[in-house]
Parts: sequence; C-alpha cells; structure tokens
Amino acid sequence: AAQGRCSARSGRVNNFVKKHEAKVVDMIDVEDIAEKVALCRCWKTKSWPYCDGSHGEHNKLTGDNVGPVVVRK
Ligand code: FES
Repeated sequence: AAQGRCSARSGRVNNFVKKHEAKVVDMIDVEDIAEKVALCRCWKTKSWPYCDGSHGEHNKLTGDNVGPVVVRK
C-alpha cells in the first residue's frame, strides 16, 4: 500500500537543519507575517524554515518537483 514511499530507515530527508534536535518543529505567528511567507518543504534551504530557492537546484539534480508552501496573511 505504501509503494513508492520511503521506508522508515532509508528515507532520511534532513541533512543539516537543527540536527541536534530530536524533531524539527517551527512556530511562526501570523502577526509576524507582513504579507506572505514561503516555507521550505525540500529541506535544502540555508535559511530554515524559509524557502531560499534551493529547491530549484534540488529539482534540477534529481528530477523532483518540490517547492515551498506560501502562507498569505
Ligand atoms: Fe526548500 Fe524552496 S528552498 S522549498
């Protein structure tokens, strides 16, 4: 049923974001969003948790199609 999904051990996606923490959780107050904000979903950004466009290189290298979630106020 889970065909194509990552297995529990081999599907690691996070290579450098807050690796010292057991689980990466981020909180953003809606009041702090000026107009809109793009949040990274590819785990390649250098400005976590925000998208910095690094998904583009990842997609080019891997054939993936990931991108950010944009939250509008
Ligand atoms: Fe990760 Fe854009 S850099 S979604």
